[in-house]
Amino acid sequence: HKHFTYDPGFLATAACESKITYIDGDAGVLQYRGYPIEQLAENSSFLEVAYLLIKGELPSKAELDNWTYHITHHTMVHDQMNRFFSGFRRDAHPMAIMVAVVGALSSFYHDSLDINNPKHREISAIRLIAKVPTLAAMSYKYSIGQPFMYPRNEYSYSANFLHMMFGVPCAEYQPDPILVRAIDRILILHADHEQNASTSTVRLAGSSGANPFACIAAGIASLWGPAHGGANEACLTMLEEIGSVDRIPEYIRRAKDKNDPFRLMGFGHRVYKNFDPRAKIMRETAHEVLGHLGAENSELMKVAMELERIALQDDYFVEKKLYPNVDFYSGIIMKAMGIPVSMFTVMFAMARTTGWVAQWMEMIAEPSQKIGRPRQLYTGEKHREYQSIDKRK
Ligand code: CMC
Repeated sequence: HKHFTYDPGFLATAACESKITYIDGDAGVLQYRGYPIEQLAENSSFLEVAYLLIKGELPSKAELDNWTYHITHHTMVHDQMNRFFSGFRRDAHPMAIMVAVVGALSSFYHDSLDINNPKHREISAIRLIAKVPTLAAMSYKYSIGQPFMYPRNEYSYSANFLHMMFGVPCAEYQPDPILVRAIDRILILHADHEQNASTSTVRLAGSSGANPFACIAAGIASLWGPAHGGANEACLTMLEEIGSVDRIPEYIRRAKDKNDPFRLMGFGHRVYKNFDPRAKIMRETAHEVLGHLGAENSELMKVAMELERIALQDDYFVEKKLYPNVDFYSGIIMKAMGIPVSMFTVMFAMARTTGWVAQWMEMIAEPSQKIGRPRQLYTGEKHREYQSIDKRK
């Protein structure tokens, strides 16, 4: 194996150069294009952060207006998409729908196949960021049998999403500004995270020259698993299963037991060996939203707070440097807002679409870009001679 190193799980392999996101896992630092995540979450809007991730700089007022205009004018999906949805079972997991419908967008936009044209790349990027929330809300509306809501261009990105989720044609829906702000924060915090599994999937799919809609669909598939984006759903399911504070020790014991596959969902990270900076902001937002909705003393919040407190003091978690990650609190916020648990990973996908697109664009623009092609250590049979079926045992 002289020509390559063996690194299963890519623990020690940098697969690309990137100027988008910086993480210092030991210090608990996350920056987008050099800006600390705390400052962006505090002061920025999601579309401003999307601009920053994709273009590399914070926009001027005119640039942001222009960007917002283009995104909001691509929020509708082709009307034939409505019929595409009716092929799914009503009880389908919305992530199953998302993998399919985002990939299907490439069947509507033939220009997306020409990835060598920067104009076509740009319009595909805008379409993806604009349409994924529409498709996400449609997957929810479909599951509850309500009509799809058309996007509203006068709303912000997050207000529009809440409108498409919770609005109905027969009554006016007013997005609550505190909830809008919380959605914006969730989206900002999830927007990019350098070369995680789904982003690496998008880059690998894209490295062959596949169109961006297909690449983002691949990213959504990779995100779905409980070790990655699926952790927010798994975390809330776990908190509900724990149910009351007195049952926490049993779950802590199980998480530490080598013979039990159970892990504390929303804890631990491949890169962060310190508090996930996103989790800190999420925790504040959880208090804000639950306080606003009068749900601060909910059993779920009590279980989460107590679980965090116990785990952070437990030797096992301390020694292995297992801290709460971004998924630990995001679910509590979304649940309090009325977003169903099955939609949590879809919310993650919606946010990460921007990061995936930024990473894909960065890769394609790189002149020396090569197809991603890992090697392997072959451990199978050595050369064997074919035997006809009557001679086999
Ligand atoms: N509960 C109990 N033990 C854990 C946990 C946990 N949540 N996470 C890691 N460990 C243990 C693990 O058993 C291993 O122990 P040992 O060294 O004795 O074998 C050690 O800590 C290191 O874990 P690992 O699986 O080798 O570490 P990794 O970098 O491969 O995995 C992880 C990182 C995020 C997949 C893992 O911590 C995990 O499964 N966490 C729970 C799922 C989760 O919350 N995922 C969301 C990640 S953040 C959002 C995102 O990126 O999508």
